[in-house]
Amino acid sequence: MGKHNMSLTYKLCLGFSAILNLLFFSFLIRSNNSDLGWSRKASEEAEAVASLSCSGHGRAYLDGFVLDGGKPICECNSCYTGLDCSQLVPDCVVDADSGNPIFLEPFWRQNAATSAIMMAGWHRMGYEFEDGSLISKELEKKIRKLHATVGNAVTEGRYIVFGAGSTQLLNAAVHALAADASSSPAKVVASAPYYPVYKSQTDLFESAKFKFEGHTSSWMNSSSMNFIEFVTSPNNPDGQLKKAFLQGLNAKQIYDLAYYWPHYTAIPSPMDKDLMIFTLSKLTGHAGSRFGWAIIKNKAVYERMVNYMDLNTYGVSRETQLRTLKLLSVVLEGNGKQMFSFGYEAMRFRWEKLSKILSASKRFSIQQLTPQQCTFSNEVRAPTPAFAWIKCEKEEDKDCHATLSAAKIIGRAGHVFGVDSTYVRLSLVNGKDDFELLQHRLEMLVFQERLVNLMAEFTPGGHVTRKSNFTVALNATYVSDENFGYYTNQEMASEDSRNSHVQETLQTLY
Ligand SMILES: Cc1ncc(COP(=O)(O)O)c(C=O)c1O
Repeated sequence: MGKHNMSLTYKLCLGFSAILNLLFFSFLIRSNNSDLGWSRKASEEAEAVASLSCSGHGRAYLDGFVLDGGKPICECNSCYTGLDCSQLVPDCVVDADSGNPIFLEPFWRQNAATSAIMMAGWHRMGYEFEDGSLISKELEKKIRKLHATVGNAVTEGRYIVFGAGSTQLLNAAVHALAADASSSPAKVVASAPYYPVYKSQTDLFESAKFKFEGHTSSWMNSSSMNFIEFVTSPNNPDGQLKKAFLQGLNAKQIYDLAYYWPHYTAIPSPMDKDLMIFTLSKLTGHAGSRFGWAIIKNKAVYERMVNYMDLNTYGVSRETQLRTLKLLSVVLEGNGKQMFSFGYEAMRFRWEKLSKILSASKRFSIQQLTPQQCTFSNEVRAPTPAFAWIKCEKEEDKDCHATLSAAKIIGRAGHVFGVDSTYVRLSLVNGKDDFELLQHRLEMLVFQERLVNLMAEFTPGGHVTRKSNFTVALNATYVSDENFGYYTNQEMASEDSRNSHVQETLQTLY
């Protein structure tokens, strides 16, 4: 009887405890859901738009176009069209002009969960942070940590100023350094080829204090004047690690280090300059967030830059600062190895492809870059520039931009960078689609060149005389030239499209 009673009590207790547990867990689940109150709808909207399929050739955004019913639609990569971006636009012109660093987008897709931010409607509505400043101290700390981890810049004992992209900081720096200039305006200079904004921005803001005065080389022996030199390292457009050209007490430098990160260059040592400028645009690829920072040694220069920011925009958007903080936290995961390895491999692949294609050409050449020891990765690193700096070698191609445009490649003309028109910059930082189309168009150009040379060898006196001969040779070249891998290329895969390219090539040659 006692035994029977005990087992009944035991069963009752067990049942009671099970009910309690059930109640407890349902309470937990409900309270968790209610914790997600204000953010749930926003995250559902964000997930819904992110999950829209754009065939890998586009993406939809929360603030993008919508259909009549309010449904978001895909924004397609250039050369792709259709509601789901699945159709390739035939004979499309390739945009290799823009420096949009979309090559990092796949990394951010892989890290979607850790890099997302959720912002309440009341997030930091005021003008200032609690301490009265316009910059997030947490973000400043994160930036210092990032430089220490990568080893690309000294930040100890330095001041940091934030800007709306480095574009805003470039002129803030000119303004701050020019304030010292005595009677005549400081001469703002750069070594060609240089990033064109140095000239256009300085021209726009020209004042009694500063004026753009062209190439450094024109001022080599004028040490008695006041100079502000832009030094870009690695350089945009040619990827070279640069040093200041003008020396002496009257020469001040603004080091634009937009590309001094391990995905674009080996890092030989930390930069330790008086005024260095970096940008999120090229570091993580988030050009649209408009965030840059300057690292400054001199207190007076720092204060003048802060004053410029106060009067110009009153600081950088708090939303941007929050997003940057989150992105840099992801970059720093695993000591920065993940994002920089991803970026380095992507850029190495592209540079190798392009170098290989152009190595078969005598008509086009690209800049020479050498492998270097990198202190960040502790190995010798292959070149991985953000841009190919193409030179058209033949007299008949002296307008190189026009030559490439005729082949449906839009680059940025050499004269924009202060050099002659035999040069063109081609962007290697675009998305995969743009790069693949660029690769294909360049292959076609080099193929055409080789064909002309081949025919010159085949025909008496080196002249192409008969179309039929020509067609045979052209087809033979397509079939036999495995180096160029035409058969792996989507556009060249079918017999029909090969024939139409053959006809097209013939028309341009005759
Ligand atoms: C050398 C260099 N400096 C500065 C910038 C401007 O960058 P941001 O997007 O930060 O304004 C660029 C952009 O292409 C650049 O190439």
